[in-house]
Amino acid sequence: MKTIIEPFRIKSVEPIKFTTREEREKTLIESGYNPFLIKAEDVIIDLLTDSGTSAMSAKQWAGIMNGDESYAGSRSFYRFESTVKNITGNKFIIPTHQGRAAEKILFAILGGEGKFIPNNTHFDTTRANIEFSGAEAVDLLVEVGKHPEIKADFKGNMDVDALDNFIKKTGAENIPVVMITITNNSGGGQPVSMENIRETRRVCDKYGIPLFIDACRFAENAYFIKHREKGYENKSVLEISQEIFSYADGATMSAKKDALVNIGGFLSLNDEELAMKCRNLLIVTEGFPTYGGLAGRDLEAVAQGLDEILDEDYLHYRIKSTEYLGNKMTDAGIPIIEPPGGHAIYLDAKGFLPNMPVSQFPGQAIVCELYIVGGVRVVEIGSVMFGKYDENGNHVAPAMELVRFAIPRRVYTQSHIDYVAEVVIEVFQNREKLKGLEFTYEAPMLRHFTAKFKPVDY
Ligand code: F0G
Repeated sequence: MKTIIEPFRIKSVEPIKFTTREEREKTLIESGYNPFLIKAEDVIIDLLTDSGTSAMSAKQWAGIMNGDESYAGSRSFYRFESTVKNITGNKFIIPTHQGRAAEKILFAILGGEGKFIPNNTHFDTTRANIEFSGAEAVDLLVEVGKHPEIKADFKGNMDVDALDNFIKKTGAENIPVVMITITNNSGGGQPVSMENIRETRRVCDKYGIPLFIDACRFAENAYFIKHREKGYENKSVLEISQEIFSYADGATMSAKKDALVNIGGFLSLNDEELAMKCRNLLIVTEGFPTYGGLAGRDLEAVAQGLDEILDEDYLHYRIKSTEYLGNKMTDAGIPIIEPPGGHAIYLDAKGFLPNMPVSQFPGQAIVCELYIVGGVRVVEIGSVMFGKYDENGNHVAPAMELVRFAIPRRVYTQSHIDYVAEVVIEVFQNREKLKGLEFTYEAPMLRHFTAKFKPVDY
């Protein structure tokens, strides 16, 4: 097997500022041990997110110059609309400025007190938008998806029996929509199989409930289906994507992921009455329906990005280069969610620091140390992000304590990734020196973005 090379040449570069360990220690204290509060220029390799961090192609930048900035009916909108229609098959395409804006509109209309919205695993903004509407967000992930060490092909699948039982118990009239997130970001970037999407659809049909796809990373999911699911090996990723969307009544999409842009999103759907309501709300909160919170140029870049993401040489490089980082970690004995996900590697913080209580945020402790040792910025997906309190004020931890290394698309080369692997291995070798953390500030919602901490001994 030859080295997997980046399927692009680099035409424009951005310098990285190097910092010393002492500088980084100071920066981390000033940020309250929360890398979300660090200035990006003080980061050497930024793996905080794969969202909005892609490098655009020459054709996308050309599209930026070509954007039609007409308020209504711009040419760029029609190109965007036809590209999204071709992939999703949906009738109504509503641009939004990012994924959560699509979620906000959908759940403001479908959510509300007494409603329940199941998903394989809700992403944090989806959950927050559902809860903000007064409804309840319910995660129904298959059991295998909750065990980091088990290797399985489709650990993002919905537990279809649990979904059926949940609907029976809750009453279909209280469930306005079922969602499936592809790939399952909060559960390790793991894919969902076509069979599982079809089965979920069957259950939805049984009760007359619409199915929506959270489509942020649909192309990566389709690539996994092509290479892991029988019967799909000879289909194109476009055909597989079209089949995925054919089982759904609509989708929310953050174009900041699999449309290779820095900003953008959409809501797509088939129900005309619902589309009308969504558009009316869009006009109040985002903009006129042919630009929806974006500039014409952004719509061009999204349309072009959606063409490029379906390039199978790109997807091969993408999935294999994420796996490359995962393999370096597992070869060094570092526990990660297996197998590696599409857009990120998820380190298992409980396996990494088995003696640190989850109430002291082992994931966040690792995040801080990676920054100090190498200027690498990653994110905790565990008790800081999803922890709750019970009625007695005791910490209730989520099922997993993870640290996510999200790989921006087309941004870093193999030597950057080799460096990241060296840093994480060094932190692992010195892991007994790590301290736990406690909050000095936490916001009532989405607390991980603004929380501050101080170190504690354990
Ligand atoms: N759904 C999923 C599965 C996501 O991963 C995200 C964003 C959203 C919805 C919301 O999209 O950011 O455009 O409003 N995920 C980013 C991340 C923030 O880092 O994983 P958005």
